[in-house]
Amino acid sequence: MLRLPTWYDEMYSMVMGNTPINGATAHVASALTRLSNRFNHPLPLVSERSTPYLDDRSSLRAYFSYFTAANCLKLLHPLDELLREGFFEKRRELSVLDIGCGPGTALIGLHTWLDETVDALPWLELVRYRGLDPSAEALSFALGVHSFTKHLRGRPRFEFTTDQGRLATVELRPASFDLIVMGNVLNELDASTVDRLPRFLDEILANAGRVLVIEPALRETSRAMLGFRDRMIGKGWAVTAPCFRQGTCPALESPRDWCHHDQRWERPSWLERLDHALGNAKLSLKYNYVILGRLKERDTEQDSCDFRVVSAPFHEKGRVRMFLCSEGGRRLFLLNRRDSTPANADFNRLGRYDAVHIEGAEHRKNDIRITKETVVRKLGG
Ligand SMILES: C[S@@+](CC[C@H](N)C(=O)[O-])C[C@H]1O[C@@H](n2cnc3c(N)ncnc32)[C@H](O)[C@@H]1O
Repeated sequence: MLRLPTWYDEMYSMVMGNTPINGATAHVASALTRLSNRFNHPLPLVSERSTPYLDDRSSLRAYFSYFTAANCLKLLHPLDELLREGFFEKRRELSVLDIGCGPGTALIGLHTWLDETVDALPWLELVRYRGLDPSAEALSFALGVHSFTKHLRGRPRFEFTTDQGRLATVELRPASFDLIVMGNVLNELDASTVDRLPRFLDEILANAGRVLVIEPALRETSRAMLGFRDRMIGKGWAVTAPCFRQGTCPALESPRDWCHHDQRWERPSWLERLDHALGNAKLSLKYNYVILGRLKERDTEQDSCDFRVVSAPFHEKGRVRMFLCSEGGRRLFLLNRRDSTPANADFNRLGRYDAVHIEGAEHRKNDIRITKETVVRKLGG
């Protein structure tokens, strides 16, 4: 289960000058209501030319009190996928560009992830982290986050710099970033900036670099991100996670469909208080993500037996069913309990967005059956 790091409250207090529980005020809740309305209707309301909304102090404090806490944890699973892929292997330095960094959400996420993983990266000595955002106020919060996190023990040195500006205007050195993070910003970009993104990202991404895009799991934002994924593939990029499929996304075939992750988390009591004021219940963390790299740099061939779980598992009397997606598209898989064996037992342990290797299943007209002979192996522990 996801949870905020032990140092979160202290970091929050340093940035906000208040503890999280004292920060969960009626004033913050009303600013939060305005922000939520904006985020729930992102496409028509937000224009790239508008004044940075996080320059408004009340909005920024509300954002940091609520969205930052939830969004920072959405980095953990994608970073695990990058680790599984070998992206961090033997890197002594890592150069990160955080586009639309806001108040430092992804920086907090990266430090949270390092709490558990730093021992697996003994060679990593330096992280050069650059935050880009048009909001000067948000950047001042991100600097505050860095002032706290740079003192966390047992991790690589962090150099943190900021650029106040927009994607369309900023000048960046070619091939200079190993990892480009775009957290909940794609839906705020105007169409012409999104059109230019594939070329822009190609210019500034270093060899063997990766682009991580995270978006809210609303149907519109999710489908827009999947459309962006498809366009990137059309321009010579490859998806390294979550999809094992390089074809167009099957979720876009029906206008009602989308694809998203959903993880349980330990909702802090102060966030629960804000939830009550908001009439919301953030009981789990729902989001979309995609990791992209240049197609020519993918050194491994896609394994046609690897799948991603793209629905919740349906545990029914006598059977388990779930949708899995791979090169062949999105298909319903089923295991009848009477067919359970040690070799296919992992099927019962699968949850949404797990990666799994399956060999020897029976393809039928409407579904794919896991038989006694099928081998099922959950990937990545
Ligand atoms: C929803 S916030 C996301 C903040 C943070 N990445 C997160 O996940 O919590 C979107 C951020 O993108 C920034 N933004 C909007 N348009 C931008 C652009 N054209 N270039 C860079 N950043 C932009 C906004 O100022 C805002 O801070």
